[in-house]
Amino acid sequence: MSAILTLRCVRCKKEFDPRKITYTCDECGETLDVVYDYSAVAEKVQRSELEDRHGSLCERYRDLLPVSDNAVPPGLGEGQTPALKCNTIGDGLGTPNLYAKDETQNPTGVFKDRASVIAVGKAIEFGRRTVALASTGNAAASLAAYAARASLQSFVFVPERTPVQKVSQSIAYGANIVQVKGDYDQTFDLMVEACNQFGWYNCSPAVNPFRTEGKKTIAYEVCEQFNWEPPDWIVVPTGNGCNLAGIWKGFREFYKLGSIQQTPGMVAIQAGGADPLVSAYKKKKAILEPVHAVTLAGAIAIGRPRNFLKAFISLEESHGIAESVTDDEIVEAQILLARNEGIFSEPGAAASLAGVIKLVDIGTIDRKDGICCIITGSGLKDPEFALRGSSKPLIIEPTNEGLRTIREFELSKPSRVCCNAFLPAIAPR
Ligand code: F0G
Repeated sequence: MSAILTLRCVRCKKEFDPRKITYTCDECGETLDVVYDYSAVAEKVQRSELEDRHGSLCERYRDLLPVSDNAVPPGLGEGQTPALKCNTIGDGLGTPNLYAKDETQNPTGVFKDRASVIAVGKAIEFGRRTVALASTGNAAASLAAYAARASLQSFVFVPERTPVQKVSQSIAYGANIVQVKGDYDQTFDLMVEACNQFGWYNCSPAVNPFRTEGKKTIAYEVCEQFNWEPPDWIVVPTGNGCNLAGIWKGFREFYKLGSIQQTPGMVAIQAGGADPLVSAYKKKKAILEPVHAVTLAGAIAIGRPRNFLKAFISLEESHGIAESVTDDEIVEAQILLARNEGIFSEPGAAASLAGVIKLVDIGTIDRKDGICCIITGSGLKDPEFALRGSSKPLIIEPTNEGLRTIREFELSKPSRVCCNAFLPAIAPR
């Protein structure tokens, strides 16, 4: 068993027994943090030891995850995603040290798989046969897949307007999918009530303290991929703030254990129509003022971030930055990534690059800095907006005339289909 000491409330510090199911603090309602005995694991997670370890995400980092040695949850090959150097976009922006950690390469196309494997493992450990969560779509499909793999029943709650791709993915994995006639925040509240009444294991982001632990493995991998010298900035598309907080926890742990000498600054990017964390952080006040979320980046359309405090603290501790971007900037970044780097992300996932473009433009981030954007989820899950401004397919007869049409089309285009249409607007001034 890993060295978990306790679950501790992020606000009032009340402690809870990690062997019992507890979601949020019964005193103040805040989220809980999983606390480890780092002295007990220090030797096992030194660089040399980790470098020699292979196997699944849970096997590699088992000492710092809530998994037992004899009950490693059934995985699907999650994690170990590449950190790709963005040469073309970097050239265009004048940012020579720009990277994209491509989380679209996870088994269900999203970083959530890192959390789902842990949450399902805990459900098995606690003897629950039904898992549930509320989601803007990605966490739902991910949990559905891992529940299928572990032969558990799943109920996933999503807002009615969730893209059909995400809904059909959940259905394919055999989830019971509930579409709520309301937004994410209403969906979330209803699902919590369902779990309380029906005894399902609640795997929702923020409420389930163990999910965050899976997300911190992004930080572990970044440390390894950057030869134990993480870049200056880790840029994260942010909704509830769970991913941001999880990644920061991972860096903090590796720092504490002496594996890295410096921690990066965390950068939270939210969509302009759903940016209460950004507003609060800019005011330097950890007070959540919920908004009615309005953005086409559905994955991060969250007006009341459930992990607000953890995310806020992560920004403060890391001397981080919070910024919002417009929907147009998000779609532009989505197209840039696909056409120049071959990474097809959904709009919410491209918010990190949109944020970098803005932050280097206004001078908050130095162009020479090391920057790693987390590209959180695949464009196949929400493809509608990628088609905006894109060329339409050629539809031709299967004849020589058809071939001539293709040739004329080719000759009418610039030599390379790339992001040049956008670069003049974002190039260094
Ligand atoms: N990117 C993508 C693709 C997401 O699906 C999400 C969250 C985020 C970023 C933001 O992460 O909430 O931890 O700050 N999706 C959740 C879901 C809400 O239900 O799929 P966060």
